Amino acid sequence: MSYMARKSFWISCSVLFLLTACYYDNEEELYPDTGGPRSNISYSKDVEPLIRNNCYVCHSDAARLGNVILEGYPKLILYVNDGSLLGSITHDSRWTAMPSGSARLPQSQIDIVRIWIEEGAKNN
Ligand code: HEC
Repeated sequence: MSYMARKSFWISCSVLFLLTACYYDNEEELYPDTGGPRSNISYSKDVEPLIRNNCYVCHSDAARLGNVILEGYPKLILYVNDGSLLGSITHDSRWTAMPSGSARLPQSQIDIVRIWIEEGAKNN
């Protein structure tokens, strides 16, 4: 390669590198907010019904499969604090994937639980 050809080759490489380095996926732009609750999530209005519908069949005071009870805030908060509530529904390999025997919850529902926890898992 001539000196000029090598020079323009390296210039193209740097331009390409700069272009890719500056490119990033903006989550907000790729997945625009579809109107689900994004903050101020309530335990009683949002989280409790979600857990009731998906989990009480196996984790109520009466069912207690795996000795896990998620019914009511005082019980649920124990699984928030040890990380297993979010870990199990996000299928984090450190925990048994939940709900057991069914598909992963829709992302919008996982987000409700995640944001509620991020906002302090309040008994509101
Ligand atoms: C069909 C029954 C069933 C359903 C529905 C179910 N679970 Fe479970 N769950 C189990 C069983 C059985 C275990 C014990 C399994 C084990 O420890 O390997 C368990 C264990 C757990 C654990 C402890 C996991 C660990 O690794 O220590 C958590 C937390 C949990 N479930 C949360 C949930 C949540 C949240 C839901 C609802 C989204 C749910 N489960 C729905 C049957 C169920």
